[in-house]
Amino acid sequence: MSTIASFIRRLPKAELHLHLEGAILPATLVELSQRHDARPLTLPEAETLFRFHDFSGFLDAFKAVTARLITPEDYELAAWRMIQQLAAQGVVHAEVYISVGVIYRWRDHDPAAFEPIFAGLERARLRGQAELGFSLYWIFDAVRHFPVEEAERVFRKAAELRPAHPSIIGIGLGGDERRTGSEPFRALYAEARQAGLRLTNHAGETTPPAAIREALAIGSERIGHAVSAIQDFHLLQDLKERQVPLELNPTSNVRTGVCPSFAAHPLRRYFDLGLLVTLNSDDPAFFGSDLAGEYLLAHTQQAFSREELRQLARNSIRASFLPTPEKTAWLAQIETTK
Ligand code: ADE
Ligand code: ZN
Repeated sequence: MSTIASFIRRLPKAELHLHLEGAILPATLVELSQRHDARPLTLPEAETLFRFHDFSGFLDAFKAVTARLITPEDYELAAWRMIQQLAAQGVVHAEVYISVGVIYRWRDHDPAAFEPIFAGLERARLRGQAELGFSLYWIFDAVRHFPVEEAERVFRKAAELRPAHPSIIGIGLGGDERRTGSEPFRALYAEARQAGLRLTNHAGETTPPAAIREALAIGSERIGHAVSAIQDFHLLQDLKERQVPLELNPTSNVRTGVCPSFAAHPLRRYFDLGLLVTLNSDDPAFFGSDLAGEYLLAHTQQAFSREELRQLARNSIRASFLPTPEKTAWLAQIETTK
């Protein structure tokens, strides 16, 4: 029998909660700095940008790294490296958040700022498809604690570009839930749905279960984190009955201080209750894990058996926004992985 690590690598998996900017390794940041800075960052200097002590510190670090992505070619390099990292772990499909809200903010809301960057991202995506058979969708992420008009700009850009670029699959909201919930975005979510976009949302990461209810109430189809659902039995029943896909990120939650340890994360309890849970890495360069690492930790810290890991892989495909024939093909491959 194969080792558990090699079984995990060979299991076809989808990554559904991954921020492009959070996947940039310090070494790539050094490369980017060599392009732009008179005195480029050293590796230890780059590594300090990724340090933080709590959730607010993490959001600041994320912003500092994102600010170092300047040209379309920078975005292309970051996306290509991310795709290579994913393919090496046996990830076959990813739905990746781009912090479009941050891109606009750093560029003074210049309406012409985004398209060239998106062209760079698409070059990387197409290269991944051609060279590695890798499948990738983009999710345009707005920052919830910025003014609502900034999210409007992000979501409307997604709707405008989607007809020519079906790789833009949906929208999402990241940032600080403690400052802004979901209700202010109700009309924008309805508008995005009308435009054919799929609706994701970070909810219940640093906030009580009411935040998850609020996210569902505005039409969010998938919930990112959902750590606090464990506190609300009726919400758990609802999530189970509706089979709402949950994008869980255990190592992220441990590293930002939301959860005391991987072993204590509600992943195992959600899974045993029959919720549609998926494992994800969120911002792997900041948290020192990746998707294969999360599967391995589920095995070592929460005793997920091979068959249970296989179920997590099935869930990741089921919860993806892939068309049904592609889901069916990947599910068949998951069954035959030894
Ligand atoms: N942006 C990137 N990662 C995030 C997270 N875990 N929560 C909120 N916003 C984010
Ligand atoms: Zn996230």
